[in-house]
Amino acid sequence: MRAQVVIIGSGPSGLLLGQLLAKAGIETIILEQKSRDYVLGRIRAGVLEQGAVGLLEEAGAAARLHCEGLVHEGIEIAFDGARRRVDFKALTGKSVTVYGQTEVTRDLMDARAAIGAPTVYEALDVSLHDLESERPKVRYVGREKEFDIECDYVAGCDGFHGVGRRSIPENVLRTYERVYPFGWLGVLVERPPIADELIYVNHVRGFALCSMRSMTRSRYYLQCRLDEHADDWPDEKFWEELTRRLDPDIARSLRTGPSIEKSIAPLRSFVAEPMRFGRLFLAGDAAHIVPPTGAKGLNLAASDVSYLSRALIDRYKTGSSEGLDAYPQKALKRVWKVERFSWWMTQMLHRFPESSGFDQKMQAAELDYLFSSKAAQTALAENYVGLSY
Ligand code: FAD
Ligand code: PHB
Repeated sequence: MRAQVVIIGSGPSGLLLGQLLAKAGIETIILEQKSRDYVLGRIRAGVLEQGAVGLLEEAGAAARLHCEGLVHEGIEIAFDGARRRVDFKALTGKSVTVYGQTEVTRDLMDARAAIGAPTVYEALDVSLHDLESERPKVRYVGREKEFDIECDYVAGCDGFHGVGRRSIPENVLRTYERVYPFGWLGVLVERPPIADELIYVNHVRGFALCSMRSMTRSRYYLQCRLDEHADDWPDEKFWEELTRRLDPDIARSLRTGPSIEKSIAPLRSFVAEPMRFGRLFLAGDAAHIVPPTGAKGLNLAASDVSYLSRALIDRYKTGSSEGLDAYPQKALKRVWKVERFSWWMTQMLHRFPESSGFDQKMQAAELDYLFSSKAAQTALAENYVGLSY
């Protein structure tokens, strides 16, 4: 088998890259280790920057998003018994769109099927070979047979646990990491959202987030301990704890119901450098993880893909590898800005188990400063909507 570009992973990074390359007439094969239904069953991010929406438009996969996506012009932050709004539209002229990652994935899968581009699901034991040569090879096992694909380039879009990053020799790869001492317990419920906008809550009992997927479906998160399991949290207990972390006036609007999904995600900041080895290029969670507090994971993946797709298209159109050579540096510049924002939001809004009285006073002072300074709110808004890079 042969393809110009082999893409490992059919998450949002791999699918978006495949679509943008296909539009430019570049042949791709996507190898995905899980089934299509498994990939579509994962509940993850919910907020898209305008840049990501623009890329989905370019990819021909934004029709449903424009019908069903909810445009949000601000968020609320609750602390110290009050809720305060950060008005993105007034501060930056921009807004964000609430549209679930599951839906983004489904739209991209449908767009790929419509153009007849191949995806191999349940491709097992994927391994990458001869990455420093002009003819890299990707090997996998499918239907109990081994297959080899010869290609020009490999895109590692296979998430944090994928094979892409692991194929970069240890003496080349540098990693930077912070693991946070808590996780997020997420619940999806078929009930209208508690409010029109997202509410980020700093509370003595721990962080909480009220989000949504549509006007009839809500997504809530609670900061939880790392040793807890979703089974430790029957719905009743979840709603009770969420109510305790909300102000009574807003808690009254909470519409509870049976959860349709419940899972715990650990929080981590992680960057791998460089994002290239020979003819392998990493994009999305394969190269970096941000804690979800800034709603950036999916948006950062989209921005990698935007740079990488342009560089590959340029390579095939003009024969120049300049864009590909510049990719790691260009992408990492943005990655570190987003890492900083996500780390700052996480730091400001969570309860850290080891924090001293001084740390807690600093956190309160940070929130106080944020809402006394238009410049500080503008900085938050610019980062959240994706304007600052
Ligand atoms: P992924 O979505 O991880 O896709 C990678 C794909 O590669 C997967 O389909 C995987 O099965 C496949 N794969 C892995 N290994 C192999 C292999 N060896 N061979 C073939 N295929 C392979 N971001 C937010 O902004 N807000 C959130 O609330 C949020 N919640 C999250 C919750 C969880 C549990 C996780 C893990 C992430 C969350 N994120 C969130 C981050 C966001 O979902 C990711 O940034 C986004 O999914 C990145 O997309 P990706 O395509 O790079 O990686
Ligand atoms: C979500 O809706 O899943 C969501 C929204 C905002 C975040 C994180 C997750 O910061």
